[in-house]
Amino acid sequence: MNTYKIAVLPGDGIGPEITDEVVKILKRTSEKFAFGIELNYGRIGGAAIDAVGIPLEEETIALCQKSDAIFLGAVGHHKYNDLPLSIRPETGLLQIRKALGVFANIRPGMILTPLKSYSPLKSEIIGEKLDVCIVRELTGGIYFGEHRMAEDEKSAYDKMMYSEAEIERIAHTAFKIAMQRDKRLTSVDKANVLASSRLWRKTVEMVAKQYPEVKLDHLYVDNAAMQLVINPRQFDVILTSNMFGDILSDEMSVITGSIGVLASASLDADQKGLYEPIHGSAPDIAGMGIANPIASILSIAMMMRFTFNRSDVADAVENAVDVVLGEGYRTKDICKEGDRLITTSEMGNRICDAI
Ligand code: NAD
Ligand code: IPM
Ligand code: MN
Repeated sequence: MNTYKIAVLPGDGIGPEITDEVVKILKRTSEKFAFGIELNYGRIGGAAIDAVGIPLEEETIALCQKSDAIFLGAVGHHKYNDLPLSIRPETGLLQIRKALGVFANIRPGMILTPLKSYSPLKSEIIGEKLDVCIVRELTGGIYFGEHRMAEDEKSAYDKMMYSEAEIERIAHTAFKIAMQRDKRLTSVDKANVLASSRLWRKTVEMVAKQYPEVKLDHLYVDNAAMQLVINPRQFDVILTSNMFGDILSDEMSVITGSIGVLASASLDADQKGLYEPIHGSAPDIAGMGIANPIASILSIAMMMRFTFNRSDVADAVENAVDVVLGEGYRTKDICKEGDRLITTSEMGNRICDAI
């Protein structure tokens, strides 16, 4: 029997709550599909700061490195806002992404069929189906350039840099994904202003020559943000840099109904991955039992598909989510009149039962 070794980093805020539901799903799928799971817990973010004063310990990095895959809840809380950047909870997240080399962040923007009427966009704009895939570069760009505040705190800068090699590898990821989908790729940049975006565009054009079947176009990020709400169906795969991808994926979450349902996979060159919902630690609702665990549960489906090559398990998890939503069960973020409001843990239980 295969045993999947998974590192579990619950983090902060709603992180531990949604992680509990993920663990239920992992246990249920391991029983149902007869594979072993070995779960090892680690600290990250505020949870690590409280325990050892820094957001990411060597021990956690080592745990992740010896695991086949990692699930991460979320990090951050406003109580850490005054800490220096270098030891904020979010820095722990950036450090683990960098340490694991997970440069390709795949964020599917899909409207789950039972949630069609939850999009604020008109139904004629959404059409039959909306399925966009955002491919976000995750270990470079402005997030990882030097961040500096002048001593007098009257000026500050953040350096944005990309190398050709960094752009090339994420472009290959995006073109390969496009080849398995509708073969349309939109690269999003700010090449009318930024030097790093000019290199981005030039490099993406160069990589495109190896994928002649894929129709490539380019958009400036401001226009892309607008096009996403005017006509999201014009997009198949969106390829973009670290910061633009962060912003566009939160925009996508509104279009698809709630940030509580969008999953992500962050992959290295060997498909080893860090799996996390796209949302944060939501301190405003932490501890209330109302967080939506679906984004995290769907991240487990991505883990099964990408790292463990188990599309059978992934399909079962995705299908169970559809079934439970189809029965009208909703957490607060996606609950309208007439729906059946349930808690975080009831949602996890129902999805487990439907697997
Ligand atoms: P957030 O994503 O945590 O929350 C934004 C809004 O969405 C809030 O109203 C929240 O209640 C809601 N929301 C988020 N996830 C939800 C869920 N699963 N179910 C229901 N509602 C949900 O963003 P924020 O408030 O800007 O950030 C809070 C903290 O999280 C900050 O410290 C930020 O840096 C951090 N953050 C972490 C990650 C991560 O760990 N991957 C991602 C984004 C933000
Ligand atoms: C995300 C988050 C992180 C990011 C933050 C918390 C560092 O917003 O995963 O979307 O910007 O990458
Ligand atoms: Mn984000």
